[in-house]
Amino acid sequence: MPVNDIPVLTLDGPSGSGKGTVGQLCAQRLGWHYLDSGAIYRALAVSVARRGISARDADRSLEVARALRIDFRPSPPDGVEVVLDGQVLDAELRTEETGELASWLAAIPVIRGALLELQRRYRREPGLVADGRDMGTVVFPNATLKIFLTASAEVRARRRYKQLKLKGFDVTLAHLFQSIQERDIRDSERNASPLLPAAGAVALDTSDLSIEEVTTRVLDLLQTKLGAERGPTSVTTE
Ligand code: DC
Repeated sequence: MPVNDIPVLTLDGPSGSGKGTVGQLCAQRLGWHYLDSGAIYRALAVSVARRGISARDADRSLEVARALRIDFRPSPPDGVEVVLDGQVLDAELRTEETGELASWLAAIPVIRGALLELQRRYRREPGLVADGRDMGTVVFPNATLKIFLTASAEVRARRRYKQLKLKGFDVTLAHLFQSIQERDIRDSERNASPLLPAAGAVALDTSDLSIEEVTTRVLDLLQTKLGAERGPTSVTTE
C-alpha cells in the first residue's frame, strides 16, 4: 500500500489531556502501531542534557537531534520502552524537568524539521496511532481522523500528579499545576508548529470523561471514517 494511504489516527493535545493513555489503548485494540512523539522530544532532551549542552544552544542541540537513534520496544503487559542509543530510558524520560527541556527544544524550528522524517517512518501497515502536539497539523496532515483532546489545567495537573506519584516521583500538585500552565503557554504560543487543533479535527474535552469513554468515542469516530472510506474494520472493544 502506498505510504500515504496507510490509515493514521492523530491525537493532539496538551500534557495530561489523556492522549498517551487513550492513544496506546486505541493502538492495542486496532492492532496498529503507536507513536508517542513526545517521547522523541523527551529522548532528545535527555541526550542533550547528558552531553551538558544548554537547550538554548540550538546548533549543538540540532547536531544531537540529527544523530538521534531512538527505538520503541513493546514492554509487556501493556507498556512501551524507549531505547536511546541502545539503552532503555526509564524514570529520567518522564520527569517534569525532561518535559520542560523537551518543550524548550521543541520550540526550535530546525530541530522540529530534523525530527520530521523520523516520525513519519512510523507510518506502517496496518495503521498508526500518533500522539503529540502537531501530529494532525504538520506530521500527518492527511490523517484519516484527527482528534484534539483538552481538559482543564486543574484536571490535567491532578492526572499528572497521580501518574508521577505512582512512578515514585517526589512532586507537589502546586508545582505541577504551575509547570503545566507554563508548558501550555510555551507549546501553544511558539511560532514553530504550535499546539493547535488541525483543520477538521474533532475536539473532545476529557475533563469529565473516563479513559474508557474517550477511547470508545475515538474508536467509534474512526470506525465511521474508515467505514466511509473502505468498509468496516474489526475493533476489539474488550
Ligand atoms: O507529550 P509530552 O509531555 O511527553 O511532550 C513533551 C514536550 O515535547 C512538550 O512539552 C512539547 C514537545 N512536543 C512537541 O512539541 N511536539 C510533539 N509532537 C510532541 C511533544
